[in-house]
Amino acid sequence: MAKEKSVTAIPQHVAIIMDGNGRWAKKHHLPRLSGHEAGRKSVKRVVQAAIDHGVRYLTLYAFSVENWQRPREEVQGLMGLLRGVIREELSEMSKEGIRLRTIGRRQDLPEAVREELESAIEKTKGHTKLDLILALSYGSRVEITEAMQGMAREVKAGKLDPDQIREETVAEHLYTHGIPDPDLLIRTSGEMRISNFMLWQISYAEIVVTPVLWPDFGEEDFAKALADYAARDRRFGGI
Ligand code: IPE
Ligand code: IPE
Ligand code: MG
Repeated sequence: MAKEKSVTAIPQHVAIIMDGNGRWAKKHHLPRLSGHEAGRKSVKRVVQAAIDHGVRYLTLYAFSVENWQRPREEVQGLMGLLRGVIREELSEMSKEGIRLRTIGRRQDLPEAVREELESAIEKTKGHTKLDLILALSYGSRVEITEAMQGMAREVKAGKLDPDQIREETVAEHLYTHGIPDPDLLIRTSGEMRISNFMLWQISYAEIVVTPVLWPDFGEEDFAKALADYAARDRRFGGI
């Protein structure tokens, strides 16, 4: 299906696989959780940088469905951190015109975190400066599986004709319905893999992998990724 060529040098949607908190902690002889805490500061810097550059959607991969397999202590620490961030940053988000959203299996999250999130999502829903989308208990394969289940249910109920299923129909059943596909995907800490992130949505995203560990990632690194993006020739299969 023909995609419109990107007309501006600034990506409308940037998605980031925020990786390397553990390695950063190890390098500094600190517990892993200190790495995650340091990563929180990077989130603040990058959100501000995205606003300054005029990015409209920022998706941050914060916790994957696979991350539940980590030691209980780390998972609990991350959930506590997440809850604190939402609570402490709510007024700042409102001031900056940020709309908080999530993608992923919100039902998997501890109730206290879910409540904090839902309240912030509700309070910021009218904001239009930046959509900050947190991928939480997110997995691309489970997202696609759930979309298929949803479509199958509609077919069974006689509400959807299988012959009428288009790419748009599938997209509408994903967690990201209504959100444009990422133009730029950044992964920190040098790992050359996707780790079950937005498999459908990144079909034509430009990819930037930086060796910088997430807690060290700042405004300049973000600007550099945008400059890399601006220099790319997005052909979408054309010539
Ligand atoms: C990314 O940092 C944060 C999460 C996955 C929650 P990691 O915790 O994966 O850090 P490394 O990969 O072990 O360095
Ligand atoms: C991907 O990082 C998930 C997040 C950044 C939340 P991981 O550290 O979990 O990915 P792998 O294990 O290196 O593939
Ligand atoms: Mg990692």
